[in-house]
Amino acid sequence: MWERTYFMIKPDGVHRGLVGDVVRRIEAKGYRISAMKMIRITGDEAREHYAEHVGKHFFSDLVGFITSGPVVAMVLEGEDAVEGVRKMMGSTDPKASAPGTLRGDLGINLSRNVVHGSDSPASAEREISIFFEPGEIMDFTRNDEKWVYPEEK
Ligand code: RTP
Ligand code: MG
Repeated sequence: MWERTYFMIKPDGVHRGLVGDVVRRIEAKGYRISAMKMIRITGDEAREHYAEHVGKHFFSDLVGFITSGPVVAMVLEGEDAVEGVRKMMGSTDPKASAPGTLRGDLGINLSRNVVHGSDSPASAEREISIFFEPGEIMDFTRNDEKWVYPEEK
């Protein structure tokens, strides 16, 4: 199914100069980047984004970290994009993430795992609405999508 997902390069990824590599891998896979911007997340946005983790022992560190510096926020689109992007990311703890995944290749520590991606289509729509206005999301088709999806396009 055609889906969109919210994807974000976290402050550690920005500080470590990994933006280009992450974006290159997303584009090379074939996902459409329909919105992208560098932002500094506010505390309110962070608490809303990570609402499912309120009350957990790592919540305040998580909010502090995600608001500590710029992030690169994106809307990605593609066939089964939510699960596909999560697969590209690897498991939450980079120590357990397979080599070849973003976290497996680019991170070591659980609290500095470089990227975020929505965990369901419902989360994706909720998270996109926190960080993007509808007018910021481009309506276009990549010229190579007929090669990425030979049946559908
Ligand atoms: P994310 O939301 O950042 O994409 O990560 P995720 O779905 O793979 O993992 P999630 O369970 O949503 O956790 C959100 C972030 O919280 C940090 N975390 N710390 N035990 C801990 O100290 C702990 N557990 C999770 C991680 O940085 C994770 O990305
Ligand atoms: Mg999560």
